[in-house]
Amino acid sequence: MAKQTVKDLDVKGKRVIVRVDFNVPLKDGVITNDNRIQAALPTINYLTENGAKVILMSHLGKIDHKDPEKCEAGKKKNNMAPVAARLAELVPGKVTFVPETRGEVLEKAVADMNEGDIVLIQNTRYEKGESKNDPELAEYWAKLGDLFVSDAFGSVHRAHASTVGIATHLPSACGFLVQKEIENLSAAIDNPKRPLVAILGGAKVSDKIAVIENLLTIADKVIIGGGMA
Ligand code: 3PG
Repeated sequence: MAKQTVKDLDVKGKRVIVRVDFNVPLKDGVITNDNRIQAALPTINYLTENGAKVILMSHLGKIDHKDPEKCEAGKKKNNMAPVAARLAELVPGKVTFVPETRGEVLEKAVADMNEGDIVLIQNTRYEKGESKNDPELAEYWAKLGDLFVSDAFGSVHRAHASTVGIATHLPSACGFLVQKEIENLSAAIDNPKRPLVAILGGAKVSDKIAVIENLLTIADKVIIGGGMA
């Protein structure tokens, strides 16, 4: 695979920003499925074991910034605190949750990190500029780190400040989850055994139309299920 991976980076003593996808389902503030947190552990553990200071960023749910009331309700509902608590149960080292997306508290938490520590930042979508890939926001976040690792497989199709913007400022690589998914997809798509049948599910149809159109040119059959059907 031509992509640079986390193993190509010299991470010891470095502040490594990792964009993960911790967009887990929550019911009344309780995580109902932690697969996405588990899926990010190989990259997180590799980094902490190799002496990195790991700064984790993720979105959680959606926040409507147009309506102040909806915005407040969205922030309350999509607070990253339960994710931080679950992560702390899954990793051996220290996890510090910063309930903010910018400012002195965040900057101090990062400055105080030791090798092997983890800081999880509040939901990136608390920032209005996140989904617009706001350049000022991307530059601000990038200054918190020395290196950037993209491991948010479920979100790499989004051109947001935390997925794309930061990567324009820092040496970047993909994490093990993204690496694995690219390898699996490439094996299935670039040189498939035929007949090739593609099966797609999920709810967000609009995001997947381009993928379906592309698959129609490659696969012998495309089967659509789940919410999309
Ligand atoms: C997902 O759950 O599909 C990803 O986390 C992306 O979430 P989004 O559609 O809210 O950007």
